[in-house]
Amino acid sequence: MKLLVIGNGGREHALAWRLAQSPRVEKVFVAPGNAGTAVTEGLENLPVTNLDQLADFAEREGIAFTLVGPEAPLAAGIVDKFRARGLRIFGPTRAAAQLESSKDFAKAFMKRHGIPTADYESFTDPAAAHEYVAKKGAPIVVKADGLAAGKGVVVAMTEDAAHEAIDMMLEGHTFGNAGARVVIEDFLDGEEASFIVMVDGENILPMATSQDHKRLLDADQGPNTGGMGVYSPVPIVTEEEMATMVSIMEQSAAATAKDPFENDYRGCLYGGFMLTPEGPKVLEFNARFGDPETQVVLPRLEGDLVNIMLAVAEGRPEDIVLSWSDKWAVSVVLASEGYPGSYEKGKVILGLEEAQDLDGVIVFHAGTALNPDGELITAGGRVLN
Ligand code: AMP
Ligand code: GLY
Repeated sequence: MKLLVIGNGGREHALAWRLAQSPRVEKVFVAPGNAGTAVTEGLENLPVTNLDQLADFAEREGIAFTLVGPEAPLAAGIVDKFRARGLRIFGPTRAAAQLESSKDFAKAFMKRHGIPTADYESFTDPAAAHEYVAKKGAPIVVKADGLAAGKGVVVAMTEDAAHEAIDMMLEGHTFGNAGARVVIEDFLDGEEASFIVMVDGENILPMATSQDHKRLLDADQGPNTGGMGVYSPVPIVTEEEMATMVSIMEQSAAATAKDPFENDYRGCLYGGFMLTPEGPKVLEFNARFGDPETQVVLPRLEGDLVNIMLAVAEGRPEDIVLSWSDKWAVSVVLASEGYPGSYEKGKVILGLEEAQDLDGVIVFHAGTALNPDGELITAGGRVLN
């Protein structure tokens, strides 16, 4: 069978690489892909990002199923478009993807269903937001409501920093429409863990835990990023915490089946947890696989990812038991200087072959491209895993 993976990051390289290992798979197209997916055996890049053109391609090529990596096409309704044309696709609809694309929507959902999370309020009026911060004090967390590629959260250790973040989002329009509303929530202290499950509309299939490191610099310093490095499993998660996280994800998946998605949530539900002294609490939901979490979770997965995804897409996850290698996986992100702010592109990358030849090393590409001379160059903020 032929498959289609949407996206161009390290996560998509890892997903396509893993799917292509299935004996059932003839080819995995990656749209638009990167330099890594361009040269990996069994993969082929498709330079298309328009959703209608992607659906045309899937129909024409007889794609068995499409897997969506990033949040932007989910929020733009790619799943609705494919489903309307009878094309099999793994991911939530646009309405369901609001669990990630609107933090206000996600917090209201959690509150409605009694899912443990930090107390919060939402604001569009800067004066009211400033007043709330003055009342609550610091530390406090200011979040742009919409999608901001992991950069729309300011963990403010002082009231001044919180006021500045409000001004940046509501008055400075740093995140455009995504920051026209802000969620301000209580600061939670603890270690973080990412727990990603597949959802078939109602039931969950849990994957291995991983711990992403969101701060730019060593020792958790610097601004938040999309994720600078990750390992799996997460040894600090106790059995009791794990049981709570499973139960929170089951509760959340069951809730999506009622209000407001009416059994529509199919795909990955990513729980970003803070392990607080009162137990795990949800920091955020994402509507997809994590990046870079996928790069360490998939190499530990035993079995055929294609069979797993088909079972979930067809609503029979009870047919599947996931098992995980007891080996460890760790991934370090190499980023362009300046990321998560502005950075230069087009720098030549050398030495990857030597890295790849090391025992136990896999190089996943993210922001890479080939220049007209066939040289490997940087083409994004997060470049390599
Ligand atoms: P989010 O996109 O909402 O997960 O936020 C991005 C990152 O900001 C999280 O992974 C945490 O590192 C941090 N963060 C978010 N919310 C809080 C909170 N309530 N307390 C402390 N840190 C937070
Ligand atoms: N690494 C965080 C995310 O995928 O959202």
